[in-house]
Amino acid sequence: GAGAVVLPSLLSADFTRLAEEVRAAEAGGAAGLHLDVMDGRFVPNLTFGPMIVAAVRRLTRLPLDVHLMVERPEALLPAVAQAGADVITVHVEATPHVHRAVQMIRALGCRAGVALNPGTPAVAVEPLLGEVDLILVMSVNPGFGGQAFLPLALDKLRALRAMLPAAGPRPWLEVDGGIDPATAPLAAAAGADLLVAGSAVYNGQAPVGTNLHRLRQALAA
Ligand code: DX5
Ligand code: ZN
Repeated sequence: GAGAVVLPSLLSADFTRLAEEVRAAEAGGAAGLHLDVMDGRFVPNLTFGPMIVAAVRRLTRLPLDVHLMVERPEALLPAVAQAGADVITVHVEATPHVHRAVQMIRALGCRAGVALNPGTPAVAVEPLLGEVDLILVMSVNPGFGGQAFLPLALDKLRALRAMLPAAGPRPWLEVDGGIDPATAPLAAAAGADLLVAGSAVYNGQAPVGTNLHRLRQALAA
């Protein structure tokens, strides 16, 4: 949507310099930080858990947007909330009780998000539209940074936008995967409010602040 903002994903950051990477995002005007928790089961990769979320929490006051790519995430929710997450997002494919997981997240005092894999249709979240603060449309198959943007995410964003009220409070729409200066404006035009960008921000080619500036310029054009 108009005024879409960028959330750097720490997945592509240099973890030997995590504090510098977090501060560079903050100094570069990031709207928040996106943290990818992976369990090696729901997705074919392992990253980090609540300890690292808590460490990042101590480094910044930016909102922390925690994306759980974890089977049966319910057990992890109290620790992630305790670690200082502001938003916790669970995948609809990861538990048969996604409604209960959303209730748990809100009861823990966090904003609740639900995520959709590329193969999952928008209607899968329809019963939850009044219960969630954020809907995350995956524009790659989750597990790794640096993959190509899947255009099917644009139709899904438009379908979700059409399901939501045009005025008044509604969940944020977030898109994650393959966001760069070329795809960011497409996702924003399709209705995304929050754009997650990993390898376009942390790529060792240009400074983090420069990369964030390029994304904002592309969104303003
Ligand atoms: C992928 C993660 C993303 C990842 C995106 O499973 O959910 O947040 O960091 O990386 P890029 O922006 O490089 O596609
Ligand atoms: Zn993510």
